[in-house]
Amino acid sequence: MASKTLVRLPGLADVHVHLRVPGGEHKEDFFTGTAAAVAGGFTTVLAMPNTTPPLVTCEALHAVQQQAQMVALCDVHFYAGASPDHLDELPLLAQDTVGLKLYADQTYGPLRVDDLATLLSCFQQWPRTKPIAMHAEGRTIAVGIGLAAAFGRPVHFCHVSRADEIALIAQAKANGLPVTCEVTPHHLFLTEADAARLGPLGDMRPRLATQADVDALWAHLDTTVDCIATDHAPHTLAEKRGPEAPPGVPGLETALPLMLTAVAEGRLSMERLVALMAHTPRRIFGLPEQPETWVEVDLNARYTLSDANLRTKCGWTPFTGIPVQGKVHRVQLRGQIIFEDGLIVSERTRF
Ligand code: NCD
Ligand code: ZN
Ligand code: ZN
Ligand code: ZN
Repeated sequence: MASKTLVRLPGLADVHVHLRVPGGEHKEDFFTGTAAAVAGGFTTVLAMPNTTPPLVTCEALHAVQQQAQMVALCDVHFYAGASPDHLDELPLLAQDTVGLKLYADQTYGPLRVDDLATLLSCFQQWPRTKPIAMHAEGRTIAVGIGLAAAFGRPVHFCHVSRADEIALIAQAKANGLPVTCEVTPHHLFLTEADAARLGPLGDMRPRLATQADVDALWAHLDTTVDCIATDHAPHTLAEKRGPEAPPGVPGLETALPLMLTAVAEGRLSMERLVALMAHTPRRIFGLPEQPETWVEVDLNARYTLSDANLRTKCGWTPFTGIPVQGKVHRVQLRGQIIFEDGLIVSERTRF
């Protein structure tokens, strides 16, 4: 067996995870979701508001923030959800969240903004210092770019997946507009051929795309793409195999091994990986520093991704069977080792 080559990276930040609290605790909860995050090298995660009920009121938000504070193994920050029904709460919600999540196209969950009046109200009220993150597919991205230009304020595009979308965002950036974007590992490593092979386990929004789309995302990785985010969207196997399978796939534990494999193969530099998975996400969302925090990875470890030993409550990954090179060996958060050799060291590190 090859000896270890250990390298320290800063604690990674994932700006797009679904921790399913409240209302979806059979899929994931704050403990299992943050255990998956830590096992995957993430020490900060940004939780999405498409829960049941959704995080569109201060009451709902503060209840889950208290819960996360008690059980989370790493730092969890929250998005507020944009909804036509609670626009009056936006200024207060902004105080305790890192961004506003706006679902402009259909996906899993109750949140959806269809009308211009709600869009305008969100863009008028949400503070300029915090991004509005949009689920926007295809030409809806042009709507987001138009709003960023009209209001002169930052807009972050979630899970960009298509060649024409990334080209449009590159164009907006070239013209100085304050837009940023993330891509997911599943849109970088899987195509519509995998969707056909995986069935519901390969279904998510946006859907897996063509090889040409995947190639375009890789071509923009050193320039247009700001961050890698997992869109960790756990659903149970029973739900995925059931009659109305919800879209979404888990990703917290597979993202870093996949991206380290790309580094080993010379498709990406380690510096760029660290920018995409730690520095730039922290800068875009103004996330607090985590002193004495790092992730130690073994660059030599070769293994095959599988459903076994996952920390996510859903217990499966669409990347099962894919060979990778690069493994999380240890994680330290604020001076304390919290993960080592496959084990969560302490059940609870933040008081
Ligand atoms: C996400 C989920 O399950 O919450 N599903 C998905 O297919 N990506 C919702 C989302 O991020 O759009
Ligand atoms: Zn989405
Ligand atoms: Zn999502
Ligand atoms: Zn060890």
